[in-house]
Amino acid sequence: MMNVAIVAGGDSGEHGISMKSGKQVCLHIDRNLFNPYLIEIKGKSWNQVVDRRKIPINKNDFSLAIGNKKIHFQVVFNAIHGTPGENGKLQGYFDMLGIPYTSSDVTTSALTFNKSFCKDVVSRYGIDTAKSIHLYKNGDDSVKQILQTLSLPVFIKPNNGGSSVGMSKVKLKRELKDALVKAFNEDTEVIVEEFIRGRELTCGVLRTEGKIVSLPVTEIISRKEFFDFEAKYKTGLAEEVVPAKIPQSDAENCSEISRFLYEKLNCKGIVRFDYIFGGKKFTFLEVNTVPGMSKASIVPRMAKAHGWTFRELVTRLINEAT
Ligand SMILES: Nc1ncnc2c1ncn2[C@@H]1O[C@H](COP(=O)(O)OP(=O)(O)O)[C@@H](O)[C@H]1O
Ligand SMILES: [Mg+2]
Repeated sequence: MMNVAIVAGGDSGEHGISMKSGKQVCLHIDRNLFNPYLIEIKGKSWNQVVDRRKIPINKNDFSLAIGNKKIHFQVVFNAIHGTPGENGKLQGYFDMLGIPYTSSDVTTSALTFNKSFCKDVVSRYGIDTAKSIHLYKNGDDSVKQILQTLSLPVFIKPNNGGSSVGMSKVKLKRELKDALVKAFNEDTEVIVEEFIRGRELTCGVLRTEGKIVSLPVTEIISRKEFFDFEAKYKTGLAEEVVPAKIPQSDAENCSEISRFLYEKLNCKGIVRFDYIFGGKKFTFLEVNTVPGMSKASIVPRMAKAHGWTFRELVTRLINEAT
């Protein structure tokens, strides 16, 4: 039996959501094949959590001492959204220890976590992206630069963020300044991107049994101005339609672009590509390399629509990593 460390938590605003993802994986993992251990990572505090008991991880070799037994892990199931699980930091640590994990490697994680750099690479492969500028804190007059380069409305986002935290949609010139301050509160880098009109689609992709497979394309319908933090996590504010009610040929096109990008970006495990669909064209928004796995998350529903139970998805992800 394989010992599996399900790492969750992390150091971003997505800590709680990640814990939900980790618990869900722990609950549904096939116990005939795997011994799961849920490990909460928060700053330098790394612990196995069982009910209210916490057992610290030995970071020298990522092991657990339970009684007089030492537990080593054959594989890590990565359920950390945001830093340090989605940006390559933890991947570097596990690479150095030689422990395989279910998500993308250091380079791919670091690249895709940087929204601006990721878009530069994606557009080089001929995929449409929104026109944008990448700003650093204490740069020159950002407002002037935005107005000279882009047309309103724009989205202003922390460049290395997630869950729509610190993000704004700006329609008026006079709102730019406050939106920049808000985004710079979350990150030292900000991306300002032109608004793209259309329907929001997302496509899950994974490699399994050596093949790149896409899950049914899903439409996200938000009742808010956009798919913001509230819409993402409060029930009733967004609806996810699996599979999306779009023509078959468009769904196939979206899946094909997603599998192509999965390969080109050298992704591992399950990832979710987000797009705006203008009726013909797909504009790439971002890729989530550690997408949500909680009961309410999109990926488990995509898997189900594909004909896989959540347990089967988890087994496939672990098998592919080892
Ligand atoms: N350029 C854009 N045009 C239209 N909608 C956008 C654009 N950028 C972001 N959005 C909306 O904002 C949401 C969050 O943006 P995203 O780039 O995915 O950041 P996060 O990493 O926080 O999820 C998207 O799901 C979408 O609803
Ligand atoms: Mg997103």
